[in-house]
Amino acid sequence: MTQFLSTEDVARIVAARGIAHVLRGMAGYIEDDYRRWQEFDKSARSASHSPQGVIELMPTADAALYSFKYVNGHPANTRIGLPTVMAFGVLAAVDTGMPLLLSELTLTTALRTAATSVMAARRLARADARTMALIGNGAQGEFQALAFHHLLGIRSIQVFDVDPAATEKLRRNLAEVPGLEVRVCASTAEAARGADIVTTVTADKAYATILTPEMLEPGMHLNAVGGDCPGKTELHPDVLRSGRVFVEYEPQSRIEGDVQQMPADFPVTEFWRVLAGEVPGRIDAGEITVFDSVGFALEDFSALRYLRDQAAALGMGKRVALIPEFADPKNLYAQLSHGVSDPCSEPGLADAAH
Ligand SMILES: NC(=O)c1ccc[n+]([C@@H]2O[C@H](COP(=O)([O-])OP(=O)(O)OC[C@H]3O[C@@H](n4cnc5c(N)ncnc54)[C@H](O)[C@@H]3O)[C@@H](O)[C@H]2O)c1
Repeated sequence: MTQFLSTEDVARIVAARGIAHVLRGMAGYIEDDYRRWQEFDKSARSASHSPQGVIELMPTADAALYSFKYVNGHPANTRIGLPTVMAFGVLAAVDTGMPLLLSELTLTTALRTAATSVMAARRLARADARTMALIGNGAQGEFQALAFHHLLGIRSIQVFDVDPAATEKLRRNLAEVPGLEVRVCASTAEAARGADIVTTVTADKAYATILTPEMLEPGMHLNAVGGDCPGKTELHPDVLRSGRVFVEYEPQSRIEGDVQQMPADFPVTEFWRVLAGEVPGRIDAGEITVFDSVGFALEDFSALRYLRDQAAALGMGKRVALIPEFADPKNLYAQLSHGVSDPCSEPGLADAAH
């Protein structure tokens, strides 16, 4: 049987453990897997584009486990009551192909994206960073704010969204978090002013320039999350030229990241090399660093592993018959008898006889 986790199950794991604990745990699993970078099958995700958005499949595997995520990105969805990003995924055993876990990944994507952002910022932002600008206050916003607050010591968030209702929703959701001040700003420039870290997590299927060079200050770390699809960017090219740029998996980021705007030889560093000690993280207090995040399959692999372990420890989720159970695995035909009394009968013909 395959284990199934719904969004409600994931929410119950978060309620049982606390969101800070879950973000920390997930960041730990992601970092562990990034440290094993060479052990994974890696490929740029397969993307199916339409004028409204994109639907993507994101597979990866090590010697023991295989995973994939189905995820979309449709920035106009919120106008018809659907989220911009919806996802689910599977963790399977490599030795048999048996799907072990089928899970929601919509809530989980927000958790794992924030955990990944913090993993990168731990090495790329200044250790004394206390203030973060958060541009784009939609579905991902609170998760980014909480991850940077709990895991990195951010105490003040300067927020801006072109939709004031989104900002008000974020302010309300974070109002009760002790030690986290949320300051609503009137523009991206105002939010970025004096920030140690600038997180951009906007959704617009356009070559947007949310951050422009005059908004940069020495020592800033830019956590660019929303530019993650061909024709969808957030950073002005001169922003990318202002500092060292780190990416998840270069072949995918060249297609989807903010670096899609740059020539093929524009220098980028895959982040795993920082963890491996091959490349330094932040070099000095004045350097500008950029994490050009698009979301990589490995992060979902880690998140699925984390959910599987937490669900087992807490006794959560239910078992579903996604794959039939067999007395004789060659007798697939016998499975039909579970649905109808006589698999050879033709209801259409029986109806016609009446
Ligand atoms: N890198 C990753 O791993 C990763 C993971 C998840 C989502 N994403 C991306 O993050 C983005 C945000 O996702 P979401 O689920 O929060 O979407 P959302 O639609 O819920 O929120 C996006 C917000 O951005 C705001 N916005 C749009 N243009 C803006 C602008 N010019 N200035 C300020 N705000 C602006 C919108 O008003 C909206 O409130 C999407 O582009 C999504 O594809 C990336």
